[in-house]
Amino acid sequence: MRVCLVGAGGHAKVVTDGLREAGHTVAVYCDPQKADWLDAEWIEKDSDLQSVADLPFVLGLGGVTPDGLLKRVTFFEKLAQGREMPAIIHPRAMVSPSATVEDGAHIMPGAIINAEAHIGRFTIINSGAIVEHDSVIEAGAHIAPGAIVLGGGYVGAYAMIGAGAVVLPQQAVRAHGFVRAASLAPRTS
Ligand SMILES: CC(C)(COP(=O)(O)OP(=O)(O)OC[C@H]1O[C@@H](n2cnc3c(N)ncnc32)[C@H](O)[C@@H]1OP(=O)(O)O)[C@@H](O)C(=O)NCCC(=O)NCCS
Repeated sequence: MRVCLVGAGGHAKVVTDGLREAGHTVAVYCDPQKADWLDAEWIEKDSDLQSVADLPFVLGLGGVTPDGLLKRVTFFEKLAQGREMPAIIHPRAMVSPSATVEDGAHIMPGAIINAEAHIGRFTIINSGAIVEHDSVIEAGAHIAPGAIVLGGGYVGAYAMIGAGAVVLPQQAVRAHGFVRAASLAPRTS
């Protein structure tokens, strides 16, 4: 598959690795800055993206706050109207056959998605994160590197689960919630 990458910062580098390792090609990218690391056609302005031939769009922007995560998706949905927006699953992530992954989700290297988990639209399940069985991750949420959502957990839309944090079994993080890096949700002390 040939794709158009929207945003070419740090998150985009990992996404591009995953695309390439899965045999896909970034044919075009759009970013205000030229990306020296990326050998593809450069489009500087969002407004010129509509001229790109009918390629699927892949969102290269990350986000680390609930507000940022919401803006990321709002911007992209507007830009990509009507385009295919595939989920990107790194070949070295492990996704249970009984899990469901919605369009536009990014599952990064070393992430584990276990049985019957649900991964919503435009989520980021970052490097080495674990989403245990029966958990639900709603649209636009970000599970940062090394974070763990234990069995039956629930992460609401656009919530940010910081690196190395743990969401305890059967517990919920509200939509637009923020869990600090290396902390427990809910807090137990
Ligand atoms: C909680 C934490 C942000 C505090 O660090 P800090 O340097 O004191 O951070 P600040 O208070 O300056 O806040 C940083 C941002 O987080 C946001 N933030 C912090 N606490 C928040 C909360 N409870 N709810 C919503 N947003 C929050 C701030 O609004 C700020 O956003 P802005 O940059 O858009 O203004 C930090 O400990 C943390 O856990 N960060 C998560 C890091 C991470 O996992 N990154 C993943 C990278 S892939």
